[in-house]
Amino acid sequence: MKHLLSITDLDKKELTSLIDFATQIKANPALYQDKLSDKIIATLFFEPSTRTRLSFESAALRVGAKLIGFADASTSSTQKGETLEDTIKIVSGLADLIVMRHPASGAAKRAAAVSKVPVINAGDGSGEHPNQAMLDIFTIKENKKTLENLNIAFVGDLKNGRTVHSLSLGMAHFNPNYYFISPPSLAVPAEIKQALNLNKIKFSELTDWQKIAPQIDVLYMTRVQKERFNDVAEYESVKDAYILNANSARLFKSTCIFMHPLPRVTEISAEVDADPRAIYFDQARNGLWLRMALLISMKY
Ligand code: NCD
Repeated sequence: MKHLLSITDLDKKELTSLIDFATQIKANPALYQDKLSDKIIATLFFEPSTRTRLSFESAALRVGAKLIGFADASTSSTQKGETLEDTIKIVSGLADLIVMRHPASGAAKRAAAVSKVPVINAGDGSGEHPNQAMLDIFTIKENKKTLENLNIAFVGDLKNGRTVHSLSLGMAHFNPNYYFISPPSLAVPAEIKQALNLNKIKFSELTDWQKIAPQIDVLYMTRVQKERFNDVAEYESVKDAYILNANSARLFKSTCIFMHPLPRVTEISAEVDADPRAIYFDQARNGLWLRMALLISMKY
């Protein structure tokens, strides 16, 4: 694997072996502690992050790599007007791999075009977030014991939610049936639907979950992406469209799993956290093992 820009950069076999590798690492992480001891990894975060950056950094340290980078682009020369391309040309001469997040869709691709070292897209605007999809798929496998033939509901901001874009493309290898549940203004983008149609994936678009809730195996909740709205009133009108709380959780079957890439805002009430179906904190923790597997598997 050279760059990881989209989840579609991996075929089914590559994706499943990466997940198997993450499973092995989770069982015995200490075995891998020196794997990348000769590598320097740069984490360049031009947009806020807690989980993704810290779990990449923790994963890098746990496989012996050293780190450079920034968590806030305002402390970098971006602030002085340096282009993304120039920043990447410099950093790719200093590090062996770049993990980057950027507010512009397509930014990771631009970075890869000028980078001398592999680039991992850790979120590009409303584009993709492929390593989140990988850890989501790892978590689905761990909990459902299979990836095949699942009924998956994606709920919330499907237009701007890059984790939904990557996960729906990544799970397409496993004959899923999708329900995209959103207000009409936050519907899943046409490019994603085209890709799903090309792969003959069954999906339907709905504005509420009432009817389909009992069939769902994986409920994937998302945050309405406030930072992508130009109009605050528009954000306010859709932000609480779907709330998973003790009451609405009753609609879903006992074997359904509740997932969320986090951070959550109001879309999942804290009272749901104790529900055995709520696995979003385990999901976030799984990012560590998956990212260790990913960093080791990259071609340096
Ligand atoms: C997501 C992201 O950044 O796209 N967070 C994450 O990486 N776990 C989801 C979000 O911000 O809503």
